[in-house]
Amino acid sequence: MTKKIEAIIREEALDAVKDALRAIGIVGMNVFEVRGHGRQGGIELSWRGTTYQMDLIPKMQVNIVLSDHNVEKAIETICNAARTGNTGDGIIFVYPVEDVIRIRTGERGREALSYPDDIDARRTPA
Ligand SMILES: Nc1ncnc2c1ncn2[C@@H]1O[C@H](COP(=O)(O)OP(=O)(O)OP(=O)(O)O)[C@@H](O)[C@H]1O
Ligand SMILES: [Mg+2]
Repeated sequence: MTKKIEAIIREEALDAVKDALRAIGIVGMNVFEVRGHGRQGGIELSWRGTTYQMDLIPKMQVNIVLSDHNVEKAIETICNAARTGNTGDGIIFVYPVEDVIRIRTGERGREALSYPDDIDARRTPA
């Protein structure tokens, strides 16, 4: 089974998350700039005695499609790299993925997701 991890993290955490994922052998990913809010519904900013509500806060969204036996390790890695302990550290969603097709080769599914030296290639058979 293939899964998609959608991790919404602080912009400042992106480099640390990317490096940590790379270090465990997560190769393919893409990143979006997003704006949103979680439980607090935004933050209050003040400027010269006036307060403003900023309800949609910029975050980075990191998308990773991977085999489901790598999902827990990827989640743990993202959490460790992105956590400050303060509100706004982010949230991770996990979805099932129906199929993957590499356009150039026509490879599908697991084949389309294997890269040289990725987390699966590094795995030593049990
Ligand atoms: N239910 C949701 N659906 C879609 N996107 C969401 C949802 N909840 C949060 N997000 C997105 O995830 C980001 C993470 O928000 P945030 O870190 O503030 O989460 P939280 O649930 O409020 O936790 P915390 O208490 O740590 O702040 C939001 O800015 C928003 O972009
Ligand atoms: Mg929040």
